[in-house]
Amino acid sequence: MKIDGKSYKTIWFENNLVKIIDQTKLPHQFIIKDLKTVKDAINAIKTMEVRGAPLIGATAAYGLVLSIIENNDLSFFKKSSEELIASRPTAINLKWAADRMMKKLSGVNDKDILKIALDEAKSITEEDEKFCKNIGLNGLKIIEDIAYKKKDTVNILTHCNAGWLATIDWGTATSPIYHAHQKGIKVHVWVDETRPRNQGANLTSYELSEEGISNTVITDNAGGILMQRGQVDMCIVGTDRTLSNGDVCNKIGTYLKALSAKDNNVPFYVALPSSTIDWSIKDHRQIPIEERNSEELSHVEGIDENNEIKKVRIYPQKSKSLNLAFDVTPAKLVTGLITEKGICEASEKGLKGLFK
Ligand code: MRU
Repeated sequence: MKIDGKSYKTIWFENNLVKIIDQTKLPHQFIIKDLKTVKDAINAIKTMEVRGAPLIGATAAYGLVLSIIENNDLSFFKKSSEELIASRPTAINLKWAADRMMKKLSGVNDKDILKIALDEAKSITEEDEKFCKNIGLNGLKIIEDIAYKKKDTVNILTHCNAGWLATIDWGTATSPIYHAHQKGIKVHVWVDETRPRNQGANLTSYELSEEGISNTVITDNAGGILMQRGQVDMCIVGTDRTLSNGDVCNKIGTYLKALSAKDNNVPFYVALPSSTIDWSIKDHRQIPIEERNSEELSHVEGIDENNEIKKVRIYPQKSKSLNLAFDVTPAKLVTGLITEKGICEASEKGLKGLFK
């Protein structure tokens, strides 16, 4: 997708370095950053210079390539892999990517290891891009259907950033929207601000605007009244981990949107590549929910009149805060899962029907 009219991917490998777009500076500054070591990759994930489940998975894969360049030793590789997996606990993609790299590299000769690792990291990114494109083509049918019946602009609500910046390209939740826009269907997106880090306001709104898609930022609490007023035709969100029973773990606040959608008969879809499915756990209470620094709540960051990024405290120093980063939307509130292989019911039967 484009920034200032130029096409980008979110991560790539060049001259033995991993290149990323530093998302902590968007939308105010566009900075391409070099990751030189596996520690840099771990740090980029922890500080959310890269974020979004598929993108942090790809960063873990490239981080392991960097670990081989630094020190081609199996114990260093294993330690790096464990640190990458622990860097953000909720999204399953980190483990998925690290395990995939480990499997590919086991038993490989020292002289071939770097090339094979690099090829595998590249195929993880290429596959994600292809899957996200297919998610878009599958989800497009839902938007087309609404547009055909409504004969007017389709209003879509989304939460957090499950856009191309959270993946390699296209995004998950946004991919059907980009495809609809490219087909000439009129769409408008309600963008949840997504406190505390404002991924909706800072990233989703930014990337949609760069593609010329009409969008409006709303407070996280506004979705309910918009749904009551009939101003939302559908919701599409992403996911950091989808259980085999169809429960969906995504950015904090997703659950409340799904409850409101149910109460107002608004279809609530979740878009995901299969790398986000956790087939191993059956009960959502076993999902590790990331708890982040309370400073993300107590402070806000923005740009001042001199174009300088400033951070300010917004509530008393003595106030306690709890910063849970994700919640779980039960499968019964999900209208359907939009995947690279098609759309299915949010259930074990639905998922197994698509992914044997
Ligand atoms: O904390 P973040 O910004 O990494 O959270 C991202 C989300 O919750 C996304 O919706 C999810 O990763 C799906 S991204 C395609």
